[in-house]
Amino acid sequence: MKGIILAGGKGTRLYPNTISVSKQLLPIYDKPLIYYPLSVLLLANIRDILVISSPEAIGGYKHLLGDGSRIGVHIEYAVQEQPRGLAEAFLIGEQFIGGDSVCLVLGDNVFYGQYFSGLLQQAKEQVQESGAAIFGYPVTDPSAFGVVEFDEKHHVISIEEKPAEPKSNYAVPGLYFYNNDVIAIAKNIRPSARGELEITAVNNEYLRRGQLRVTVMGRGMVWLDTGSPKGMHKASGFVKTVQEMQGFYISCIEEIAWRRGFIDDRQLRKLGEELKMTEYGQYLLSLAG
Ligand code: G1P
Repeated sequence: MKGIILAGGKGTRLYPNTISVSKQLLPIYDKPLIYYPLSVLLLANIRDILVISSPEAIGGYKHLLGDGSRIGVHIEYAVQEQPRGLAEAFLIGEQFIGGDSVCLVLGDNVFYGQYFSGLLQQAKEQVQESGAAIFGYPVTDPSAFGVVEFDEKHHVISIEEKPAEPKSNYAVPGLYFYNNDVIAIAKNIRPSARGELEITAVNNEYLRRGQLRVTVMGRGMVWLDTGSPKGMHKASGFVKTVQEMQGFYISCIEEIAWRRGFIDDRQLRKLGEELKMTEYGQYLLSLAG
């Protein structure tokens, strides 16, 4: 399975923070925001990764992540000329995806939870069995998201994009797993009223085909909003609190790569040495032993 991180958009809700810096390069406490979705792909054992961003911002991601070899993965880059919608990722990434299945994670989504790796594994299996796997996450105000509508038996009836009157409290987080049909599906959808190729249209097409699996994330899972200065501040506070309490870092890409066996002790120690002036680097060195 291939992985795509979509780090496009102008980040206007964070202006002036994001006038000259791409949103997903801003920090969530001690690491750039994009480390969080990148961690999701690493946890899913996905090592072929495409980062998509705007023409102005793509250089920053290349500078930060390079070709991925430092953490034992392969990272490529592509440009989205205009923010034309999430589903455009599968058109821009068509060659990269080739004949494979694909996981799309949005560059500003932060996930954390003990059983998360299991959910990711399950989603990969669901793609093989059905075609598509997404999640539902309970939120107090779903109207800013894609929202899942269920019937009494908890079957999914529809998914609506940013409904004025949401039919449930279950938002769809920015983490999507699809088989190779997603390319053809993305080619066939039309722009929505706001002029975007909506990921919700892709999900509804899989639903129409009877191929969409929706797994509800429970209380133990954390999904954090980084769409506003308050959201970013809260997410930073959460990461700081958990890291200081437990001593385990959240979404430390070097640690995950090492625990997954993508890099060895020696490579981890080298990465730690380069950052040894920071607590982050000291953490890597403490792991490498
Ligand atoms: C996008 C999707 C929406 C999803 C959300 C998750 O919204 O369109 O369905 O729930 O990401 O972060 P946007 O970022 O375009 O507001």
